[in-house]
Amino acid sequence: MSFAALWDSLLPVGRHAPTGGYRRYSWTEADAACRAWFTETAQERGLRASCDRAGNLWAWWDHPRSARGAIVTGSHLDSVPDGGAFDGPLGVVSAFAAIDLLMAGGFVPVRPIAVAAFCEEEGARFGLACLGTRLLTGAIEPEAARELRDGSGVSLANAMTAAGLDAGRIGSDPELLASISAFVELHVEQGSALDGIGAAVGIGESIWPHGRWRLDFLGRPDHAGTTRFADRRDPMLPYAATVLAARQAAAGHGALATFGKVTAEPGGANAICSAVRAWLDARAPDEATLQRVLDQISSAARNAASEHGVAVSVRRESFSPLVAFDAGLRDRLAATLRARGFAAPLLPTGAGHDAGVLAARLPTAMLFVRNPSGVSHSPAERADPADCEAGVVALAAVLEDLGGQ
Ligand code: GLV
Ligand code: MN
Ligand code: MN
Repeated sequence: MSFAALWDSLLPVGRHAPTGGYRRYSWTEADAACRAWFTETAQERGLRASCDRAGNLWAWWDHPRSARGAIVTGSHLDSVPDGGAFDGPLGVVSAFAAIDLLMAGGFVPVRPIAVAAFCEEEGARFGLACLGTRLLTGAIEPEAARELRDGSGVSLANAMTAAGLDAGRIGSDPELLASISAFVELHVEQGSALDGIGAAVGIGESIWPHGRWRLDFLGRPDHAGTTRFADRRDPMLPYAATVLAARQAAAGHGALATFGKVTAEPGGANAICSAVRAWLDARAPDEATLQRVLDQISSAARNAASEHGVAVSVRRESFSPLVAFDAGLRDRLAATLRARGFAAPLLPTGAGHDAGVLAARLPTAMLFVRNPSGVSHSPAERADPADCEAGVVALAAVLEDLGGQ
């Protein structure tokens, strides 16, 4: 099947018409529809569909006589709130399309090849990015994962159980990991470097260390019309000061810091709120810099809170260390692509990926596909059809090389 037909078959799932963005949150109806799409797509190709203990989906092009390690490709199907169509799904759809290309060309792999769709990569529902690969690799204990809660207080265990999975079985899968030789994730570029260079496809070099921290500012609810400024303990003020301090701290260190999610409780327009809860996303070129930025932001939050008689706590929800992708695998991808006429530049990225988590356990690489909008985590995210096709050709070449030896 062509990339375009496969792409179109997934496109309507989980799309929020009023914004044009995607709301594919883990273990919801939209997620179930994505999972059903994955299983059907696998079965249509004669691939063996399976689900691991963490809930990640796999489609296996088995090789009954080969004891060699599998080559795995894929990405994720979940989205951020009102995310773009490409972040995640492009890697999964391209993986199936690349297998179609290989099958149509009569390629016979000498080892298993598989497509994976990992759960909760964005952490949009349960707060922890790359939850599926963290579980698979044992980077999070199953007990801790089961207790993760979404914004409505629903635990991961209950959400998975409601979706028909056995949450009691979640956890790492060393046997599955040991059966894999390499993982290659294709992803839409989340910036405009490839567009600037004029290349359709790039190769991942490294991922900045990054994480998420939750800040709770607790003040005293009161009347907006009668409470003198001097008598207020308004958590909104230290929160606002912290947003500005975060921008300044990150900019001063060549890092990035973002507050993209905030709630004010109880949320009355004519009342001083009792609590402001905010999520800081911070990223830097190295871990020491990230820590310095975080220390500076935390201390600004504490100082501003104390100035306003407000309590503040800072809690880490998610952390991903610096990743340098496997140099041998990266060079091999570069040689394969060069031989096919792709001048694929090496790109570092500030975005997190399952490939980054798997890199701690396996030789891992990434391919990026040009995004002419340069925008991601937004409905404006884009990749042109011709570049998507080029990504499929590039991925097929990589799978042919890795799966043919
Ligand atoms: C995932 O896309 C992230 O970088 O947060
Ligand atoms: Mn993303
Ligand atoms: Mn992604």
